[in-house]
Amino acid sequence: MNFSWDSVMPIVGTDAAQAWEHLHLFLLLVCAFFFVIVIGPMIFFAFRFRKRPGRKPRYITHNFALEVTWTLIPTLTLMVIFTWGWIVYQKMVYAVPDNFVEVRVVAKSWSWTFQYDDGRTTTNELYVPVNRPIKLVMTSDVNDVLHSFFVPNFRIKKDAVPGMYTTVWFTPRVIGQHQIFCAEYCGAGHSEMLAKLIVLEQKDYQLWRWGKEINIPPAVGVGGMDLVRGMMTEARVLPGAQVAEAGEKGSDFTSLVEQGEKLSRSRGCIACHSSTDAPSIGPSYVGLFGSEVQLADGSTVIADENYIRESIENPQAKIVKGYEQVIMPPYPGALSELELNALIAYIKSLK
Ligand code: CUA
Repeated sequence: MNFSWDSVMPIVGTDAAQAWEHLHLFLLLVCAFFFVIVIGPMIFFAFRFRKRPGRKPRYITHNFALEVTWTLIPTLTLMVIFTWGWIVYQKMVYAVPDNFVEVRVVAKSWSWTFQYDDGRTTTNELYVPVNRPIKLVMTSDVNDVLHSFFVPNFRIKKDAVPGMYTTVWFTPRVIGQHQIFCAEYCGAGHSEMLAKLIVLEQKDYQLWRWGKEINIPPAVGVGGMDLVRGMMTEARVLPGAQVAEAGEKGSDFTSLVEQGEKLSRSRGCIACHSSTDAPSIGPSYVGLFGSEVQLADGSTVIADENYIRESIENPQAKIVKGYEQVIMPPYPGALSELELNALIAYIKSLK
């Protein structure tokens, strides 16, 4: 029989995916082991102690040693599963290295838009450099439904939710094209909501940013389930013109921070929120992102993407200490998702 375990699993595209894979195999072996030692004796006993005329079963009340054994072994096994699972989960969700490249993801029925630091956007194609940690800050368009960003080769799946930001990160190790699926039923076009995650060599990534022609190979790694691999086997050339076109949507390559700065002027944010340390009507943007904000009710909140978004759309939700008189009107839906991302990138840049 010509069976390989790898052929039934997708390519292992990251270190975290490898850790995930080991855990998965362990769980499978544990299940197989318990299946055999539970179902095997059960079938045997059903036959061995079947009802026969003239035979009466012995009356057994308990067996202390046996009961302790079948309590302890599963308890220890579950603790191993929990600890191991927690370590892998921690690695996949929280342990983002500092030197990450951030890309923003906006899901919409039925496509994926990716927004980069240099201001460009691409649709249904996410370009990332190999061996660099990539952090995705995701949302779904505010008037849209829930979607789920799923890359089988990287073993990552995270919901994109309207009106809030979720994050996911990975360090790609395998160059080439990887399939992205939407993993949450989102309407008629759900199965068509596909995108490609294109991992480039550092050199090619730079060429792509400069709008030069690049070769994109298929992803070649250990394994590769046919469903995923079948969609990704073709190498292709991304011509310079096409790259430039992809870039054009990003407002003439104006960086995201610059776009945000312009927005803060055109939308009047700077009238009340200073981008310097000078006092103003509202809280300053400087040093805001990632800081712990003291609120009027005595509690605190970490100023992350979700906090900033909420403060724009509903300024009354969390009132900052010292700014109890909230005069800012709510701005729900005043900015598009891409504009919100730009504004947040600008606020982030003001350290
Ligand atoms: Cu989007 Cu399913």
